[in-house]
Order: sequence, then C-alpha cells, then structure tokens
Amino acid sequence: MVDSLKKPTFEEIRPGVKTPAKETILTPRFYTTDFEEMAKMDISPNEDELLAILEEFRIDYNRHHFVRDEQFDKSWDNIQGETRQVFVEFLERSCTAEFSGFLLYKELGRRLKDKSPVLAECFNLMSRDEARHAGFLNKALSDFNLSLDLGFLTKSRKYTFFKPKFIFYATYLSEKIGYWRYITIYRHLEQHPEDRIYPIFRFFENWCQDENRHGDFFDAIMKAQPQHLNDWRAKLWCRFFLLSVFATMYLNDIQRSKFYASLGLDAREYDIHVIEKTNETAGRVFPVTLDVNHPEFYDRLDACVKNNEKLTEIVNSDRSKFVQLLQKLPLYASNAWQLLKLYFIKPLDAVEAQGQAR
Ligand SMILES: [Fe+2]
Ligand SMILES: [Fe+2]
Repeated sequence: MVDSLKKPTFEEIRPGVKTPAKETILTPRFYTTDFEEMAKMDISPNEDELLAILEEFRIDYNRHHFVRDEQFDKSWDNIQGETRQVFVEFLERSCTAEFSGFLLYKELGRRLKDKSPVLAECFNLMSRDEARHAGFLNKALSDFNLSLDLGFLTKSRKYTFFKPKFIFYATYLSEKIGYWRYITIYRHLEQHPEDRIYPIFRFFENWCQDENRHGDFFDAIMKAQPQHLNDWRAKLWCRFFLLSVFATMYLNDIQRSKFYASLGLDAREYDIHVIEKTNETAGRVFPVTLDVNHPEFYDRLDACVKNNEKLTEIVNSDRSKFVQLLQKLPLYASNAWQLLKLYFIKPLDAVEAQGQAR
C-alpha cells in the first residue's frame, strides 16, 4: 500500500533516471515502417492541401511557446503520496508517447529526404514539434527529481512494424486523440483554476494545436491515397484502429482514475468525452466511425476493466506461475470476447456525411 503522506520511490537505472515503465500491450508503442513504399507514394491527388499544411508547419506558431517560466520555480514536494505517483506516471507516459512520435517522424524525414521532399520536410517539422513536447515533459519530470533516458529508450524498446497505411490510421488517431485529451484538460482547468496543481497544463492550449495540425497532415495524406479509404478492407481496418485506440486509452485511464481525480476530473466522463469527439473527428476522413452510443459499448469496456483489475491482483499474488496462468486464461478469453463483440457492433457510415459536408 502507498502511504499517502510519503514520497513514493521509483526504480532508477542511475540516480535520478527513472527505469522505464514495463512494456505491456497498453504502454505507448514505438513504430517503424516500409520506407521504400512510403517514398514511392504519389501525393499529387492532394498536393495542394499538403503544401498548405507544410506552409503552416514552417510558420512554427509554437516556436516561443515551450519556455518554462517562474511558475515552475518552486518545490513540488507538496504533491505527495499516490498523487505524486500517478503524476509521475502521467508525465512518463506522455513523454514516451511524444518521443515515439519524434523518432518515427525523424526517421521518415531522413529516409524520404531525396525521394519525396514535401513529405520529408513535413515529417522533419513534426519531429521538431514532438521533440519539444517530449523535452518539456522530461523537464517536468525533473521537478519530481526524475528524468527519462531517451537514448536508452531508443535502444531498448521494441519497434512494431506497420505498413504505411497502418501507420497513417494509427498516427492520425493518436494525434487527434492527443488533441482532444489535451484540450479537454485545458478547458476543464480554465473553468476550475483551483485544480491546476502544476503549471504544465497551462501550456496545453497551444500545444494541442500542434497535435491537431499533425492530425490534419495525416488526414491530407490519406486523402491523397484514397485507395486506403474507400474499399471494404479500409472499413474493417478503420474500425479495428478506432477500437484499439479507444479501448487502450479507456483501460489505461480508468486504471489511473486517481490522476484525473487529482485534477478534479472524473476519468470515465473524461474518456467518454474524448472518445466521442475523436470518433466524430475521424468521421471526416475514415469511411466509418464506431457506434460509441450503443448501449453495450461502455458496458463491455467496463467488463475489460474489471478483468484487468483481477489480472493485476493475480500477478501481484504469491501463487505459483502455473496457478497464476490457469487463473489468467479465462480473463484473457473474456477480454478477447468483449473486444470481439465490440468490434462487431454495427459501425456508422461516415462517407455520406462527408459528401454532405462537401
Ligand atoms: Fe506531440
Ligand atoms: Fe503530434
């Protein structure tokens, strides 16, 4: 049990350098892709929009935004116990996710440089933004006497290979969901300044505009590749990515409700809002969206939350590995079943709405 009055201790690889959180299916992923295929991509069907986005990236609206001011110059020892624990976890998770974006975009910028200069420059400028975001979060960790060794993370993490079209679906959604997550926290704290227990949240308004622009870039790329959006496979894959992104966030956040509570937010309500908004946004480019108002949608996700709580309890028990495995299997099966049932909830057609909007 965590003593709510004391400073929690974290495992460190060196003094002050936090051991990265264990990789699980729910931790932020690092990606790599087929750079050749990406370089060969013809972007001419939507080149004008991509050039307009590149122009926006070049303007660099947030050039002077990420500067730590005097509000950070104090001791944060008033944030203690479990709140400190969940706070550090939030900063680490966010920093890792931003850094994973940086690595992927940087590599894409490098590999496409001579073959697809417009895309290469876009990726480079997005990696500039993500580096700032990750750096700012890592600096925030130092207020809690910790930091992440990003070089170590680069070398030690496993990279998931995705073909370009899957990179587009996944990164588009992670940018847009990132936008909605940041702006929702920002708007809430604007209404309830007494809950702003740490100054980083004041930066979220301009910050999330970076994520929004990044999302728009992937929206434009997908529109340049309509074959990834208009057949039955695209529909199945878009459903898959929407569900995996929503389910991952929901399971993570409900498990960390204490973090949201420390900001005066209800994690479940927060997630429902973010899912609703991201789903709606995705309907501007994806051919389908999920029926998130279906009566079973959150019931099934909540069943997964319960299963995960039991799984954690089993892993932390002192039963033998074999007994643990036997106890875990039905819970895994139940999670798989719930997710399968969620996947097969009839999706909503977004193409018609897109036609009307045009
Ligand atoms: Fe970012
Ligand atoms: Fe981003």
